[in-house]
Amino acid sequence: MQTFFNNKTAIVTGASRGIGREIALKLGQLGASVVVNYVNNVQQADNVVAEITNMGGQAIAVKADMRRVNEIETLFENAIGKFGTLDILINNAGTVIYKKIEDVTEEEFDNIFACNVKGLFFACQLAAKKMAEGGKIINISSSVTKVMMPTYGAYAETKGAVEQITKVLAKELGHKRIAVNTISPGPVDTELFRQGKSDEQIQSLADMAAFGRIGTPRDIADAVAILVSGEAGWISGQNLCANGGFIA
Ligand SMILES: NC(=O)c1ccc[n+]([C@@H]2O[C@H](COP(=O)([O-])OP(=O)(O)OC[C@H]3O[C@@H](n4cnc5c(N)ncnc54)[C@H](OP(=O)(O)O)[C@@H]3O)[C@@H](O)[C@H]2O)c1
Repeated sequence: MQTFFNNKTAIVTGASRGIGREIALKLGQLGASVVVNYVNNVQQADNVVAEITNMGGQAIAVKADMRRVNEIETLFENAIGKFGTLDILINNAGTVIYKKIEDVTEEEFDNIFACNVKGLFFACQLAAKKMAEGGKIINISSSVTKVMMPTYGAYAETKGAVEQITKVLAKELGHKRIAVNTISPGPVDTELFRQGKSDEQIQSLADMAAFGRIGTPRDIADAVAILVSGEAGWISGQNLCANGGFIA
């Protein structure tokens, strides 16, 4: 384990599985105390905590449904109550529906916006109030805001909102030297991505990347490590498209 982030605390939302899990492990490896958020999968969240503590790091799992503001408040209270500070927020929790716009129901629309936009917005709001000077916020968007794919309408709309929140918040938090950035992954091999896709569809998406493969959660965790590093201190309000050349 490295010591770069000793005495720094990170909240990673949706860290029980997929991309969030690898981000939590990466930040733990770099020495941060990590708050592993989840909503359903307590066992998987506990496994992430165990992996970090087995490396000699510190971590706790906190259940909070990012669709509910009072639960987001509890998440932040737990983080700061346990570790005393908040320095890094990775807004990663997200959900998807693959449906043509004409087929999306009101309930599906409200649910995806509640998780991907409302939750992220209010987590940003709490970070604006509680994060230490010089902190880092990273909001996870998606390359689907740049490549127009049928059935991704509702999902792409939520991620467009995420990118706008980043840009405005970066201006609002500059006086505290808090950097706010977006990372936009391309296709990444997780449950969310594989849902409802055939092997042929996955291969054709892999072929769209310059590197000829879909991404791994580790690829995205490595991009996070770059943006939270000291060397990225002058980068704020930007969108890092970590997608293996999938789309420019
Ligand atoms: N995979 C891709 O190809 C891809 C591409 C671009 C962007 N992204 C974005 O990357 C992020 C992570 O995606 P992923 O592929 O890693 O997804 P995933 O494997 O489905 O994992 C989703 C994570 O989010 C958590 N979560 C879901 N709803 C939540 C809620 N209401 N409150 C709190 N946590 C919640 C889940 O917790 P539980 O385990 O407790 O359910 C889980 O930890 C998302 O924002 C997604 O839009 C993914």
